[in-house]
Amino acid sequence: MKEIVIQPSITTPTTSLVIGEHLLEGDLLIDFCKKRKHRIVIVADHALQDVYASKLADHLNARLLTIPSGEKAKTKETAEMIENELFKSNYGRDTTLIAMGGGVTTDLVGFVASIYMRGVDLILIPTTLLAMVDASIGGKTAIDTTFGKNLIGTVYFPQAIITDLETLKTLPDKEWINGLAEILKMGLIADPSIWKIAEKEIKNHELILKAIRGKITIIEQDPSEKGLRRILNFGHTIGHGLEAISCYEMSHGIAVAIGCVIESRLSMKLGYLSEKEFEQIRSLFHRLSLYLPNTYDRKKLIEAMLYDKKNINKQTRFVMIDRIGHAIPFDGDYCRPIAEHELEATLIWMEKTYG
Ligand SMILES: NC(=O)c1ccc[n+]([C@@H]2O[C@H](COP(=O)([O-])OP(=O)(O)OC[C@H]3O[C@@H](n4cnc5c(N)ncnc54)[C@H](O)[C@@H]3O)[C@@H](O)[C@H]2O)c1
Ligand SMILES: [Zn+2]
Repeated sequence: MKEIVIQPSITTPTTSLVIGEHLLEGDLLIDFCKKRKHRIVIVADHALQDVYASKLADHLNARLLTIPSGEKAKTKETAEMIENELFKSNYGRDTTLIAMGGGVTTDLVGFVASIYMRGVDLILIPTTLLAMVDASIGGKTAIDTTFGKNLIGTVYFPQAIITDLETLKTLPDKEWINGLAEILKMGLIADPSIWKIAEKEIKNHELILKAIRGKITIIEQDPSEKGLRRILNFGHTIGHGLEAISCYEMSHGIAVAIGCVIESRLSMKLGYLSEKEFEQIRSLFHRLSLYLPNTYDRKKLIEAMLYDKKNINKQTRFVMIDRIGHAIPFDGDYCRPIAEHELEATLIWMEKTYG
């Protein structure tokens, strides 16, 4: 694949988002770092130390710190550990932090970069499909708290995002679904060409590029999250509810994939989406082997959805599509409330299909 550079205006100060292969071994990062004359610290997911991070640290003559793998690391304590390591070695404002890993690493290191000395430069190297197409795009950083996920955070744009597709070669099979679900969601809400490619071949580099462009285009049109950006939440009303009732045992990808099918079915039942297109959607997601968590309970799911950020007056609101590749604007709200009996009927279908 040819190296592709995207220069999104929303991500000013991000000078570039480079997508390609073998980017970590070449001169790209060296040139980038030389220009700034900064001290470089790579903060990487521990699982990547031997495969990529140590090599990159040698290549850039940079300090390497690692953090434990998994969501459990996305805490105030890990952020503090990174800050303390930086303070101990007198790293000042002339520091560039490089985050290498999945969304946990990019969120956490992005957060530290945004607050250390009131903000130091940041480069993201996303290494999971989810981080490439979703977590690294849009400038949101976060850590989790005991009160909930992502409750503390900032909006802070990196100077560069280097997406090296080679790193996907070591990504475990079970991690792919998380990115795939977001890519297919983008196909449903905004880009029918994603859907066409995915129907033929689901692990295709073109899909990654299109999903990244899709997210950037949506954010650029609604930077302050007033309306359009809600469409990124398609599949997530049900998806977040399912994850919550599984106590986060269920993967985000499987939950969102089921959510996309169910929210498409609601769109069909309300007369917006054709039966033929719903069938196409159901059948593509069927290839991903979806199943409900064993903690599933309809009442609990409906209750969990009451915490959805789109709700008004305790009414659950859903993003709807009227064809593959198009979310319905609903006068700029991009979502609408659904009557409880409609929702229940669709959940009964979900239980029969994925239970
Ligand atoms: N900021 C945003 O806009 C945004 C958007 C979506 C998700 N997120 C956040 O992203 C996080 C989830 O990200 P994730 O799914 O990437 O999880 P993750 O960062 O935990 O990575 C998943 C697993 O893959 C391993 N891994 C990463 N890259 C690898 C590679 N190339 N080869 C082998 N193993 C590799 C990691 O060690 C980890 O075990 C959540 O915390 C979520 O809140 C943020
Ligand atoms: Zn998601």
